Amino acid sequence: MTVLASALDTAGPEYAAHRAAMLDKLAELEAEQAKALDGGGEKYVRRHRDRGKLLARERIELLLDPDTPFLELSPLAAWGSDYPVGASMVTGIGVVEGVECLITANDPTVRGGASNPWTLKKAFRAHEIGYANRLPSIHLVESGGADLPSQKEIFIPGGALFKHLTQSSAAGIPTVAVVFGNSTAGGAYVPGLCDHVIMVKERAKVFLGGPPLVKMATGEESDDESLGGAEMHARTSGLADHLAEDEHDALRRARRVVARLNWRKAYADPPPAAPPKYDAEELLGIVPGDLRTPFDPREVVARIVDGSDFDEFKPLYGASLVTGWAHLHGYPIGILANAQGVLFSAESQKAAQFIQLANQRDIPLLFLHNTTGYMVGKEYEQGGIIKHGAMMINAVSNSRVPHLSVLMGASYGAGHYGMCGRAYDPRFLFAWPSAKSAVMGPQQLAGVLSIVARQSAAAKGKPYDDEADAALRAMVEQQIEAESLPMFLSGRLYDDGVIDPRDTRTVLGICLSALHTAPYEGARGGFGVFRM
Ligand code: COA
Repeated sequence: MTVLASALDTAGPEYAAHRAAMLDKLAELEAEQAKALDGGGEKYVRRHRDRGKLLARERIELLLDPDTPFLELSPLAAWGSDYPVGASMVTGIGVVEGVECLITANDPTVRGGASNPWTLKKAFRAHEIGYANRLPSIHLVESGGADLPSQKEIFIPGGALFKHLTQSSAAGIPTVAVVFGNSTAGGAYVPGLCDHVIMVKERAKVFLGGPPLVKMATGEESDDESLGGAEMHARTSGLADHLAEDEHDALRRARRVVARLNWRKAYADPPPAAPPKYDAEELLGIVPGDLRTPFDPREVVARIVDGSDFDEFKPLYGASLVTGWAHLHGYPIGILANAQGVLFSAESQKAAQFIQLANQRDIPLLFLHNTTGYMVGKEYEQGGIIKHGAMMINAVSNSRVPHLSVLMGASYGAGHYGMCGRAYDPRFLFAWPSAKSAVMGPQQLAGVLSIVARQSAAAKGKPYDDEADAALRAMVEQQIEAESLPMFLSGRLYDDGVIDPRDTRTVLGICLSALHTAPYEGARGGFGVFRM
């Protein structure tokens, strides 16, 4: 064992300051997450309950095995948009009859559970996760279908939802629909395309067109029950496989369906693992409030990996990127973690080599971000920083082992890409409340804009208004800062959630367990041309 030593002074003023800053950010985060938990607000929640119905999260809780965790995904979806935080849908990974499943649940208290553009993005992301990791999916359906005022944003791309269901089925990944209420028009294809369908008696309404539309189209008089009631679908159309007495019965039946899937993960669960030697609580005091102050990511590694046991690779070379091997909840992982923020040529080459090694050995990779990007300047350009950064990006792009990313601090510029940012398809990507991500830092970006504007004015022979420039810089800085923050980025689905640093080991453990449902094999070759 190579147990990491810790130099964190938990009694010192810096630790206290970092901790206080992190706790402030966590409190802000909690306030925003509470909005998603509130759903459509008191009035609609009460109305829903008065109808004798369970809330989306209650349905999920009853579906899951007792006392098992639920890893909610994209809880802040739609944050900062015109739509309610949470995007009228709950998605996540939970355990049903011992099987890790991808679960989606419409929130019918938010505009009838109608799907807006952010609901769609959230559902697509949930599908991506389910599909990549081969997780059976369970859909708890009660929705007014497309959010009609925003139909132009969702109608055409939204069709992919149904395609995804049938493609999952074709890939042998089970799909289950439990219909609690409305599932009309396009929504009717959710049960239509799932492998297993359960409908709640006197509640489920599944039809292509409701009574008014049918009357308009053909003149036929009808009612909800004969057009799309659960009894009709169970006895006559055959769309429902199970007729449930009520919501509890429907969830019980869903659990029985999963119990009979004969589902087997690609890998056996590892034996119980030793916890880290250091307290997870101390993760609150590592990242400085000001991200320009560097911190040692080994302090983080020491608090998330099994036994704090970490074998570093090439510690003396490219020291501002820490690379090494560990286990997390019994799963082997390779870790790449930024130390001093900047990626130089040596760090980039070291990363490319390390990623290739992980692929040769079939070891998943964890990227811990705190980078301001690749080094700029004459010396570094002449030293080949572009080709070395390209090497790292080539390696991360063509790597075939599963990747996990956690944004702890800065994640700027192409450094975000090289460290397996969102566009590089990590299986999961989470941010800490301390994270910031953008093309560059706000001051740098505002400064660049100002220099460009000044040069442009000079080229045209025009005078430059320094006062206006200062105001513009301040405005741009503020805008970029706001757009770099984790809540904003999470709202846009650029991560899978903002997590409490203390939960990192648990969250990554759930992800590692889930991703071992699907077989994987590292790339033995197949990288692009490495420019030497
Ligand atoms: N798009 C936009 N808003 C919708 C919506 C939709 N598809 N469905 C419901 N809403 C809104 C309602 O206008 C209402 O808003 P308000 O409270 O500000 O007045 C709110 O959501 C709740 O709807 P309400 O009808 O009061 O809820 P309900 O629980 O009694 O009924 C439905 C829910 C879904 C059965 C009903 O709203 C409905 O039939 N919606 C239209 C369904 C449809 O045809 N969709 C097109 C599918 S492609």
